[in-house]
Amino acid sequence: MTNAQASTQEQWSSRLMFILAATGSAVGLGNIWKFPYITGENGGGAFVLVYLICIATIGIPIMIAEIMLGRSGRQSPINTMRILAKASNARPSWRYLGWFGVITGFLILSYYSVIAGWTLAYIVKAVSGDFSGVSANDTQTIFSDFVNSPLQLTLWHSFFMLATMWIVARGVHNGIEKAVRYLMPTLLILLILLVAYAFSSGDYIRGLKFLFSPDFSKISAESILIAMGHAFFTLSLGMGAIMIYGSYLPNGISIAKVSIIIAIADTVVALLAGIAIFPLVFANGLEPTSGPGLIFQTLPIAFGQMNGGTFFAIVFFVLLGFAAFTSSISIIEPAVAWLVENRGWKRSKACIYAGLLTWLLGMGTVFSFNYWKDIKFYSMTFFDLMDALTANIMLPIGGMLIAIFSGWVMHETISREQLNIGKMYHLWHFLIKFVAPFAVFIVLLHAVGIA
Ligand code: TRP
Repeated sequence: MTNAQASTQEQWSSRLMFILAATGSAVGLGNIWKFPYITGENGGGAFVLVYLICIATIGIPIMIAEIMLGRSGRQSPINTMRILAKASNARPSWRYLGWFGVITGFLILSYYSVIAGWTLAYIVKAVSGDFSGVSANDTQTIFSDFVNSPLQLTLWHSFFMLATMWIVARGVHNGIEKAVRYLMPTLLILLILLVAYAFSSGDYIRGLKFLFSPDFSKISAESILIAMGHAFFTLSLGMGAIMIYGSYLPNGISIAKVSIIIAIADTVVALLAGIAIFPLVFANGLEPTSGPGLIFQTLPIAFGQMNGGTFFAIVFFVLLGFAAFTSSISIIEPAVAWLVENRGWKRSKACIYAGLLTWLLGMGTVFSFNYWKDIKFYSMTFFDLMDALTANIMLPIGGMLIAIFSGWVMHETISREQLNIGKMYHLWHFLIKFVAPFAVFIVLLHAVGIA
């Protein structure tokens, strides 16, 4: 019954393609750009541990839930939520959860696109040989000169948005699958190469110690919130992105299995990025707390010194740009799918409007690194605020509601049939009903300082 729409909808051509596309969504700037710098800002090991616990106990169960909801509803998140609520005799207001996700997506893509633009700019810098023989001082200057230029940031942000909307306008299948299939493994190989470099030339003992030996005195309510928020961000959870990918998933594929594969792949990439970066941070006298510029200030040093560095730098930033690209597509897809379904707009029209709005909002992030860098709300710049609001608050709230819906509202017969995992169902059901929603709730409560 719930699959009534299946026949009218495009579907992934195979399980592998789904895994690739969903991994393409999950692996992005979150793993390679954000994970290292927030780990640096939040003291290292203990933060990493909390993050890993969140992935296992909150992230994976919610990913399973989101894919399941998507496959049961087979529409854009807003309509999926409406259909599923109806099927379970729940309030139609659950559809606002879909709305919430669409809005979250706009906000996330607005700054995601700006940072993705940085990686594109760094391709050009690599091609021009700007990194050969650079010191930590040089890379810091290169980075700060760059972000101080609103014009350059705007150009690259615009370029990235255009490219994203162009691909989204052409539909899900075309391109994404093929691109991901070859690019992701290459990115992995490059990361391993960087890790090898970090081990031979960096202070890997300090780097590894920083990442993996937990010092719990560095943990605060805020850092737990950030770790949890990042678990959502990095797995693309809490706003319907994975839900919509799930809506294209053929029946009969094990949702639990693919979720675990995706989560492991995502975590491995993030950890590799951390292992590659921190030895360089310490060996070059950089600060782990350098913030959003961290990878842009560390990796060029490595590229500048290794043999064939210019080549590897180009390949690396190209791949990072692609990884950002396969993620950004999924961030805006729920909004576009909804405009197409409910407004009857053409995909191209939906993309133009959604893209323009996102682009405009992104200008706030562009300016927060130059003109507006001293304008702070609660000691956060516009970019910090967007990031904190979406990753640490909106995604966890969305995820919590998804968990509540899947665990408490939806009829168990539907989820049992969708998941089809025998006894393991009880484990998932326990995690989604009790552990995930309460954990998120408590962390959010602590963060607002109520508890
Ligand atoms: N997970 C991606 C990354 O780590 C970003 C992303 C894609 C995302 N889709 C999302 C984040 C949906 C939140 C919600 O870079």
